[in-house]
Amino acid sequence: MRIVVSGAAGFIGSHLCDRLLAEGHAVEALDNFLTGSRRNVAHLAGNPRFRLAEVDITRPFAVEGPVDGVVNMASPASPKDYLEHPIETLDAGSLGTRRMLELALEKGARFLLTSTSECYGDPLEHPQVETYWGHVNPVGPRSCYDESKRFAEALTMAYHRVHGLRTNIARIFNTYGPRMKLDDGRVVPAFMDQALRGQPLTVFGDGSQTRSFCYVADLVDGLCRLMLSEERYPVNLGNPREMTILEFAERIRRLTGSRSEVIFEPLPEDDPRQRRPDIAKARALLGWEPKVALEDGLRLSVEYFRGIHAAA
Ligand SMILES: NC(=O)c1ccc[n+]([C@@H]2O[C@H](COP(=O)([O-])OP(=O)(O)OC[C@H]3O[C@@H](n4cnc5c(N)ncnc54)[C@H](O)[C@@H]3O)[C@@H](O)[C@H]2O)c1
Repeated sequence: MRIVVSGAAGFIGSHLCDRLLAEGHAVEALDNFLTGSRRNVAHLAGNPRFRLAEVDITRPFAVEGPVDGVVNMASPASPKDYLEHPIETLDAGSLGTRRMLELALEKGARFLLTSTSECYGDPLEHPQVETYWGHVNPVGPRSCYDESKRFAEALTMAYHRVHGLRTNIARIFNTYGPRMKLDDGRVVPAFMDQALRGQPLTVFGDGSQTRSFCYVADLVDGLCRLMLSEERYPVNLGNPREMTILEFAERIRRLTGSRSEVIFEPLPEDDPRQRRPDIAKARALLGWEPKVALEDGLRLSVEYFRGIHAAA
């Protein structure tokens, strides 16, 4: 298959490209490098089935030739990035998603949207199941991301209903692994960076808020399975193993052999208190569940971040 991936030079996008190429597909990678980096896909440069184009999906663009699949991942994704680029984030979810849907329609291709657990906001139901409509502050600082993804989901469903487009929607929960940016503000690279530098680990609030972390290879496997399914409604993809941020900080300290202390700072506005996916739907529909143990995934990530530190 020939697959167009937007946001291909980002953290998850670059791993998806690796996987699609390994399966024998051809990849047309689009990115405007707002939050991603050419470095993430530099190793694919010599591959004749991989092409990278600098494209902002919120502006007109064309892809020549036949296309079988369109994956729309382009969007700032870390709170630090979307708080810095709120308008670009809203544009990516709205204008950008519209252009990617039009591309799929024009080519008769299937379409996958990478949405987010942030659609559930600060959830009042726990764990989060796909039928929960969420608890989102529509005007808070995080709304640029949450609402852009909720709009993108609505637009995707409208294209399916109006045009019969074969669409899928993945609601991705916290994912981690190599190629995250050390300074993107998300908790995994932030703790690892601080631990490797011997600096204090910054915990927001009292650290009792929970998250569930999925290793990127597991997530990409879920996306590939979803892309082939006929399910039109959103499917949660994430790891249901939940832990407090404080427990997580301890784990990273042990893994890196760091003696950094933990310091506490005020919780950001609208920060979700708890996060855990209900993945019963993905299990039943896709036969998918995460396989990589947290310890193994973190070890692979630490190795990568050590390499970045050594090269700096
Ligand atoms: N990483 C996670 O834990 C997580 C969780 C939920 C959802 N997601 C979703 O997965 C996708 C990828 O996230 P990520 O963590 O890899 O983030 P990332 O920032 O590493 O990757 C996003 C990529 O999109 C590109 N981009 C942004 N705006 C663009 C535009 N207008 N045109 C073209 N390219 C553009 C960026 O340059 C970057 O390469 C995003 O849609 C995100 O919302 C990620």
